[in-house]
Amino acid sequence: MVRQTCITNSPEQTFELGRKLGEKLKGGEIILLHGDLGAGKTLFTKGLAQGLGVEDPSLVVSPSFTLVNIYKARLDIVHGDLYRLDADAVYELGLEDYMDQEHVLIIEWAEKAGDFFTGDVLDITIEHIGESSRAFTVESDRRYLDTDCI
Ligand SMILES: Nc1ncnc2c1ncn2[C@@H]1O[C@H](COP(=O)(O)OP(=O)(O)OP(=O)(O)O)[C@@H](O)[C@H]1O
Ligand SMILES: [Mg+2]
Repeated sequence: MVRQTCITNSPEQTFELGRKLGEKLKGGEIILLHGDLGAGKTLFTKGLAQGLGVEDPSLVVSPSFTLVNIYKARLDIVHGDLYRLDADAVYELGLEDYMDQEHVLIIEWAEKAGDFFTGDVLDITIEHIGESSRAFTVESDRRYLDTDCI
């Protein structure tokens, strides 16, 4: 298991960190985002989407009524936000249908799903370390981020 921490000091840097990581994804990755309200999960997801080839990342918003949003890109992106769901509802989403090499899953509030997600998982924990600073800690099977981060 590799663990790497990167600090961002602005929303723009968080977007850029996401974009860089998105460029490295090959398909089949499951990105689990952990962090409080306003940590930057959705903003980071916008960056990931751009790195995966989504041209207009402003279209990337947390799914609410739809439960999951799907964006077509270099790899199809399945974006879920489990905040309002309980564990049973998570199991009913059918997310396992998307756990293959053609998709990347990005899940906000993934801890709601317990240990439902298995496979090529990147656990990313975002901590507030200042008004506009965040610490991103990525735990994964292999190294994804450069040592200089952004
Ligand atoms: N370094 C930073 N990285 C990310 N966001 C930052 C940073 N500094 C300030 N912010 C602000 O924090 C907010 C992050 O919002 P975002 O919607 O991405 O959070 P979230 O984790 O998805 O929250 P929620 O749990 O409500 O979905 C934005 O308003 C952004 O401008
Ligand atoms: Mg969000």
